[in-house]
Amino acid sequence: MVQDREQWSSTLGFILASIGSAVGIGNIWRFPYIVGVNGGGAFLVPYVISVLLFGVPLMMLELAIGRSTGKSVVSAFQSIHRRFTFAGLIIVAVVSLILGYYLVITGWVLAYALSFIIGQPMAFDMFTDSYLPLIFFLLSGLTVFVTVRSGVRKGIERASRYLIPVLIAILLFLVAFSLTQPGAVEGIGFYLAPDTSNLTDPGVWIAAFGQAFFSLSVGMGILLTFGSYLRKESLFRSGIIIAAADTLIAILAGLIIFPLVFTSGLDPAAGVNLAFVTLPSAFIRIQFGMMLGALFFLMLFAAALTSAVSMLEVPVAALMDSYDCPRRRATLLVVAAIMLLGLPSALSYTALKFSVFGMPFLDLADYVFGTIGLIAAALIVAIVGGWFMNRIRICAEIGGCGWRQRVYMALIRYGVPAVLLVTLAGSLLRGAG
Ligand code: PFF
Repeated sequence: MVQDREQWSSTLGFILASIGSAVGIGNIWRFPYIVGVNGGGAFLVPYVISVLLFGVPLMMLELAIGRSTGKSVVSAFQSIHRRFTFAGLIIVAVVSLILGYYLVITGWVLAYALSFIIGQPMAFDMFTDSYLPLIFFLLSGLTVFVTVRSGVRKGIERASRYLIPVLIAILLFLVAFSLTQPGAVEGIGFYLAPDTSNLTDPGVWIAAFGQAFFSLSVGMGILLTFGSYLRKESLFRSGIIIAAADTLIAILAGLIIFPLVFTSGLDPAAGVNLAFVTLPSAFIRIQFGMMLGALFFLMLFAAALTSAVSMLEVPVAALMDSYDCPRRRATLLVVAAIMLLGLPSALSYTALKFSVFGMPFLDLADYVFGTIGLIAAALIVAIVGGWFMNRIRICAEIGGCGWRQRVYMALIRYGVPAVLLVTLAGSLLRGAG
């Protein structure tokens, strides 16, 4: 028996779920730092250009493929041509591998939120010298499992309907608080003071491209899968709303982080340290720090959870479509597999310190799957969709074949692959360096 395909309950539900997918850990602690070290306010120019010229067209392509085929990534690619089945499987594999370690970090965020709520924030070293991260990894896996198992409307859409407004409310509250702190001016100076000399540096552009694709969650089959639950909405308008919300939330996150870091006289260094070492010590030093820390990590948890849920939907929907497998069973099988895939990453930040080539396994996974794999997957989507899908079919989805649509198609066929290749080369060089 073929199951009826679920639909979003409304355009708003779809947009909130897509914003939930895009707004993740990457917006809140990766974006602000990348802005800070790549020319401050001036970096917003290459970033916004990347989002509008490359991110949004790729988003629209994914949504168009999903809606026109009415299928998730493997079956959709298969219906474009049988020889692309394998390409669809690669995408499913990359998303699953990313989700494996993303759930580990989501677990850390949950642990930190709880530790602030009970008024006993932890030191990162102590936390990762125990086996607690493993327990929180399991808890975050369980949470995404329960959400996705409940379905598109009752699970994914509902989670974002509640969590995204809460996230925005906490964000605005924390911005208002941070801006009244003594280090606000200095922090914002580090963050946004424009340094236009950076704009001629190709490294800055590559950073902008990479962050734009990562942040919008494009090229991973997520929006393709989400598109398969869509009816008549304008894809262009939806794409712009999602991209604008994602960018705005990322910019606002920086207005929380840097004033606090500078108020506490700490170093604004990036990565794991910024979120899990620097910020917690900033919260400990300021008034109302426990409450603010709890709110900050709850906000980060909401962001991470809605992104993780969207990633999980890709392999789950693929299994449902390819084998006519019921959602509950598909979710169980996929989550079990992903927990196994994520286990080495989870263990790399416990007392076991599982490392490969002298690097914690999670850091390696972030580079291989979250950086290189992600770009490769996006390249596959752009090429299969842009070059092999019937153009008339795409036009029908994006509102006709006028000059605007022809510009998108040109961007998708030439611009996006070119930019992805440059980003891939830049990322490989950085990895080798
Ligand atoms: N967009 C998410 C973030 O900014 O944290 C991360 C992400 C989600 C990346 C899903 C890739 C992906 F497939």
